[in-house]
Amino acid sequence: MPINLKGRSFLTLKDFTPDEIRYLLNLASDLKSKKRAGIHTRLLEGKNIVLLFEKTSTRTRCAFEVAAMDEGAGVTFLDSKSSQMGKKESMADTAKVLGRFYDGIEYRGYDQAVVEGLAKNAGIPVWNGLTDVDHPTQALADILTLMENTKKPLNKCKLVFCGDTRNNVAYCLMYICCKLGIHYVGWGPKELAPADDVVAYCRKVGEETGAKVEFGEDIALIEGADVLYTDIWASMGEEDKIPERVAQLTPFRVTKEVFEATGNPDCIFEHCLPSFHDFDTTMAKTQKELGYDIREVTDDVFLGPQSRVFDEAENRMHTIKAVIVATIGNV
Ligand code: CP
Ligand code: NVA
Repeated sequence: MPINLKGRSFLTLKDFTPDEIRYLLNLASDLKSKKRAGIHTRLLEGKNIVLLFEKTSTRTRCAFEVAAMDEGAGVTFLDSKSSQMGKKESMADTAKVLGRFYDGIEYRGYDQAVVEGLAKNAGIPVWNGLTDVDHPTQALADILTLMENTKKPLNKCKLVFCGDTRNNVAYCLMYICCKLGIHYVGWGPKELAPADDVVAYCRKVGEETGAKVEFGEDIALIEGADVLYTDIWASMGEEDKIPERVAQLTPFRVTKEVFEATGNPDCIFEHCLPSFHDFDTTMAKTQKELGYDIREVTDDVFLGPQSRVFDEAENRMHTIKAVIVATIGNV
């Protein structure tokens, strides 16, 4: 059956079938090749989108803006400081108003219920640009990057997420891996294990797709990985947890030795970014002065030959473009 995602929201990968996810990945790859070849597809001519951010962003905001502008759409950016959103006007009313002006809404914030509420009230597609428990556009970019770096079929690949295995990025990777039959391992401390219902969901999907879903503290779990992945230890809004996270997660920092434990010379390193891999940021520097080394990965891995983090960042744009085009575009 041909895939048609027109009019659909993109709130979580749980809502999409494996074929729909593969369609988005292939569309992203196609749009990427066309952009590289200088072919202007202009698939969003006459459309307008609005980007709502209640948390900060570099990649997601810029990816949505460039993706939309490449295809001929108009873009408005709104944050909580410069709009009525959430303070003087409920999110439901905001959604109803924006739904009259625009063809699609991107939302980044805290509670997944907010992005779901926007989708319920807007009457137009809503795209999740990150919440506390999900980051679905990120996972598409991460798997596109894997596809570009392996000759294996995805259902023969293994992805290991190191560190805070119950954060938004870990969850979206669990969802995409279980849908696509990718062996997923969460290597991190038991205090930061994923919620039981998330694990149960992924294992159930994995029964149909063949995806194995494992967790634990044993470094032996890393063996044979095709992707070693990590993220910062305290996500946006959790900065007060840094001292306890450093104590819990230091054994799970991705170092050269950890990377070598994969035993796979073709294993690549991925990271959603932003990353603490040195002390060149005010946050890493300040925390170091307080006695906390918040680096989740060392420079030899982050800047090493197996790192694909900047290709992955570029792929945020191509995959986000695919999501927008598939749901509101002229395809
Ligand atoms: N990876 C990611 O979502 O980056 P930003 O926070 O910069 O958007
Ligand atoms: N887990 C991180 C991801 C940033 C892209 C956060 O939520 O801050």
